[in-house]
Amino acid sequence: MNTIPSPERLPTKRLPTKRLHVITWGCQMNVYDSARMTDVLRPLGYRPADTPEEADMVILNTCHIRDRAAEKVFSELGRLRVIKQARAAEGRPTVLAVAGCVAQAEGREILRRAPFVDIVLGPQTYHRLPEMVARAARAGGVVIDTDFPPEQKFDFLPDAAGPQLPGGVTAFLTVQEGCDKFCSFCVVPYTRGAEASRPAASVLAEARRMVQGGVREITLLGQNVNAYHGDGPDGRTWGLARLMHALADIPGLLRLRYTTSHPRDVDDALIAAHRDLPQLMPFLHLPVQSGSDRMLRLMNRGHTADDYRRLVERLRAARPDLAFSSDFIVGHPGETDADFAATMALVEEVGFAQAFSFSYSPRPGTPAAAAADRVPPPASDERLQRLQALIRTQQDRTNASSVGQAMPVLFTGRGRRPGQLSGRSPFLQAVHACAPETLIGTVAMVKIEAMLTNSLTATLIDPTALPDPIPLPERACA
Ligand code: SAH
Ligand code: SF4
Ligand code: F3S
Repeated sequence: MNTIPSPERLPTKRLPTKRLHVITWGCQMNVYDSARMTDVLRPLGYRPADTPEEADMVILNTCHIRDRAAEKVFSELGRLRVIKQARAAEGRPTVLAVAGCVAQAEGREILRRAPFVDIVLGPQTYHRLPEMVARAARAGGVVIDTDFPPEQKFDFLPDAAGPQLPGGVTAFLTVQEGCDKFCSFCVVPYTRGAEASRPAASVLAEARRMVQGGVREITLLGQNVNAYHGDGPDGRTWGLARLMHALADIPGLLRLRYTTSHPRDVDDALIAAHRDLPQLMPFLHLPVQSGSDRMLRLMNRGHTADDYRRLVERLRAARPDLAFSSDFIVGHPGETDADFAATMALVEEVGFAQAFSFSYSPRPGTPAAAAADRVPPPASDERLQRLQALIRTQQDRTNASSVGQAMPVLFTGRGRRPGQLSGRSPFLQAVHACAPETLIGTVAMVKIEAMLTNSLTATLIDPTALPDPIPLPERACA
């Protein structure tokens, strides 16, 4: 297990500076992973490059969740091949690596169709990247690593030292990875492997380091983040709520969020955390996929539409201002007009602050892809349009109801206009306000003045940063 060279033990001196360009597609976990791959290559002398033309190494971090994922990868690889050839003609070699979920699912096909790729690596092998780079350089040949290794990558990757973007105030932190739920439509259990949680101490250490680097808001990540069950420093198994209580004790960590959660894994302790933790923001992404029990069964989701409604009620009782977001799939094999009507009814009832909705896309190797009763694309498209229109109305209503309200905003950076800062409301709305740059990285009270298509404008009520933590608003008893 310890044969893998730890990045700290790799020689750091006398290495010429090389440049690394990472292209990231897909979910937040890919954003986090791209940052970790950058970290693990730093001891080898790699520093970030803005464009692939300037880069000695390019990593394409891919996503396989929907649509023509593989085709998109091959088209991008075609573009990178031209760049690689142009650099080679100037005597500047380029290491080209394909990472992420397409690499995991279609590694061999990538090497067959794009033999100019040097390294193909799956999401569980990123800690082995330095070794792969060395092997590719030595052999001048192709390296493929899409195993699910027995060791956990997090035991070997260096912790994130700071924010994922220079000057970043918000950051992602993966605490759980993989999925054992095998929803009928989903490729993730096959690309990310079995569910695994990081030990709490390692999460806490990484969070502390991020906060020292200027991060003020951490979003805990996992494919099913609330299935988290990591080893606690007290020898017990910690759930997500316990972990968030410990994170909330870190001075300077003003805000916590988590995503993506699964309705089946919302436990009493997590609901209570929404009541008790002022750092935990009142916004929850809780995908339901469909409002029809028949579809939920076919999708293997393991809960009913009423289970979801009850959960929303209990969470709202614990934190009345909690805003919900969700994911929906329309046109899953077997979906009828009546099933879709049940989805629309659920959306009407719950009322979402925002939501993502997708047309079902068959994923190779998943049970639904083999189903005969496909929904014809015109019907699926029509349903998607109706659902998206309803969601848009609800999102606009949520944003409109914010106008005139005072709320604490975490300022994350400069806005587009001179003198303006951009930030985030507790409900994950983008907010712009004229404010001094000294407020970047702090939370201050603003009054929301107007709503634009995807953001809010505001005026600063008080130019002083709020204390940490901000007390919870008045609430009903849970
Ligand atoms: N673990 C999360 C979802 C991760 S995938 C959960 O269980 O909710 C993110 C979203 O992509 C899913 O919620 C689903 O809405 C969508 N999705 C996944 N597979 C899909 C497919 N084959 N076709 C269309 N949408 C899909
Ligand atoms: Fe995919 Fe279902 Fe797992 Fe979510 S819970 S990652 S949708 S298999
Ligand atoms: Fe895509 Fe893999 Fe994330 S398929 S959504 S990058 S887990």
